[in-house]
Amino acid sequence: MATLDTMRQSEPVVDPYGRAITYLRVSVTDRCDFRCVYCMSENMSFLPKKDLLTLEELERLCRTFVGMGVRKLRLTGGEPLVRRNVMQLIGNLGELVGQGHLEELTLTTNGSQLARFAQPLVDAGVRRINVSIDTLDAVKFKEVTRWGRLEQVLGGLEAAKQAGLQVKINAVALKGVNEDEIEHMLAWCGAEGFDLTLIEVMPMGDIGGEERLDQYLPLSLVRSRLRKSFTLTESDYKTGGPARYFDVKETGQRLGFITPLTHNFCEGCNRVRLTCTGTLYMCLGQEDAADLRAPLRASDDDAGLRSAIRDAIARKPKGHDFVIDRRSGAQSVGRHMSVTGG
Ligand code: 5AD
Ligand code: SF4
Repeated sequence: MATLDTMRQSEPVVDPYGRAITYLRVSVTDRCDFRCVYCMSENMSFLPKKDLLTLEELERLCRTFVGMGVRKLRLTGGEPLVRRNVMQLIGNLGELVGQGHLEELTLTTNGSQLARFAQPLVDAGVRRINVSIDTLDAVKFKEVTRWGRLEQVLGGLEAAKQAGLQVKINAVALKGVNEDEIEHMLAWCGAEGFDLTLIEVMPMGDIGGEERLDQYLPLSLVRSRLRKSFTLTESDYKTGGPARYFDVKETGQRLGFITPLTHNFCEGCNRVRLTCTGTLYMCLGQEDAADLRAPLRASDDDAGLRSAIRDAIARKPKGHDFVIDRRSGAQSVGRHMSVTGG
């Protein structure tokens, strides 16, 4: 296992385009207790449990990456908090923050389990979380998530506030669904003390009958509409992710835009993504991947694993090429977001 010493000394691995890889996202499970219409089909088949890495194996992989210069870890899913005993992993990784090896350990969650987990997350060393909420209308929320209950998520957010977690709300902009509600959501986030990030729907995975083109709402349009009611000033605030931020004068909070389709953000990409089966994706929008499970299991020594990670980063592509195309109609990337995490 990577020793503390190797962690302290490492410089980040740099890809062929000169981008230092300092950010690892880890999907700890592909399962979720929601079935959002743009993310999953109603009848999803999930990975057999035997294919999953154990929590110990995931931790060893994370530690190896931290030993190779990763400074920020985000756990995603599926829904990370539905994986059994995940707090054990989070607690152990949180120690890396306490010891100064990791700048930040964070989480993207749908909020369904937050009432239970907000305080344990803070105790484990998590300071900031992203919570996905696409609408504040309980009926629409049910339509979008199929299985979710808004009230439960709002209860989770209350618990997060009580526990002192900094919250950013992620909302996917959906044509004809939350389109007329975004101003209200921005004002609500302001009142609650949350930042808000809007995301363009990305063509990933078969969602069963739904049409991407029917869901797609360009954020350039949303922004110009918001400017009628809010004063947005471009900000140089960065979280390490792909969002571009604006300060919202009226609320004092920030508003981020993740625009994979209208604006290409790949130049500054510092990320790679690991799945719960040990597959490393070098780009959210490309199929190329590297298997880390075999080198992980081949030896207790991390040398093979480290060289597999270096080889993978050496293949990181320049960028994604998401398009939502009326002719092809289909997804650009076959796997679902829940495989590689957001
Ligand atoms: N396009 C855009 N965002 C998506 N998410 C899930 N699937 C998609 C998609 N196809 C979002 C979730 C969550 C984040 C992890 O990714 O709503 O906010
Ligand atoms: Fe679950 Fe998030 Fe996908 Fe919704 S978007 S089904 S909450 S993983």
